[in-house]
Amino acid sequence: MKFFIDTANIEKIKEAAALGILDGVTTNPSLIAKEVTDVETEFEAHLKEICRIVDGPISAEVTAIEHQGMVVEAKQLSQIHPNIVVKLPTTRDGLKACVELARGGIQINMTLVFSAAQALLVAKAGAAYASPFIGRLDDISHVGMELVQDILQIYENYDYPTQVLVASVRHPVHVVEAALAGADVVTIPPAVIDKLFKHPLTDIGLERFLADWEKSRKRG
Ligand code: G3P
Repeated sequence: MKFFIDTANIEKIKEAAALGILDGVTTNPSLIAKEVTDVETEFEAHLKEICRIVDGPISAEVTAIEHQGMVVEAKQLSQIHPNIVVKLPTTRDGLKACVELARGGIQINMTLVFSAAQALLVAKAGAAYASPFIGRLDDISHVGMELVQDILQIYENYDYPTQVLVASVRHPVHVVEAALAGADVVTIPPAVIDKLFKHPLTDIGLERFLADWEKSRKRG
């Protein structure tokens, strides 16, 4: 399973990249807006900086909501760097734009997927990635991971090459469940990456090893 980081924060991306297990980055307009003061003037430079840090797919989202505007914006985004994957919302216009852009060779990540029906449409539209938002489904008392399982089953039934990118991840259990389901990619916020390392028994065990080592040094 590929690990992407779900942030536009340069320091956090550098930290995760330094681990050596990061495969890509996902951003969205909210995440970009948190990191720059003026999206109009700084978005492109910010994306270029991310592309310099991580050599893998970097998702950047359009903000147009109608088909033609999305196509224009997507083409501009894809010119910024060969690793840019354009994120489009899963709407009627987004789907039409996906078909056109995917045919033209642009990698598309269809975002805001909340149903298996939407996931089926985006696979037919030629999206490289489908992004089900599992945390937001859990928030409204649906089991987000059941959607991931359904999408994986549908894509397997028809050999759709669209990769399932599990998004809106809130805790380490989401990451483990995504892996158990066989998702292609999980995009993880920095705080959840930190939590993946954590186990109290690891800390206690290490403390004990070092204390025993120290005791033996003193004896010698
Ligand atoms: O990349 C978008 C997605 O992961 C958003 O997550 O936590 O805002 O639902 P969240």
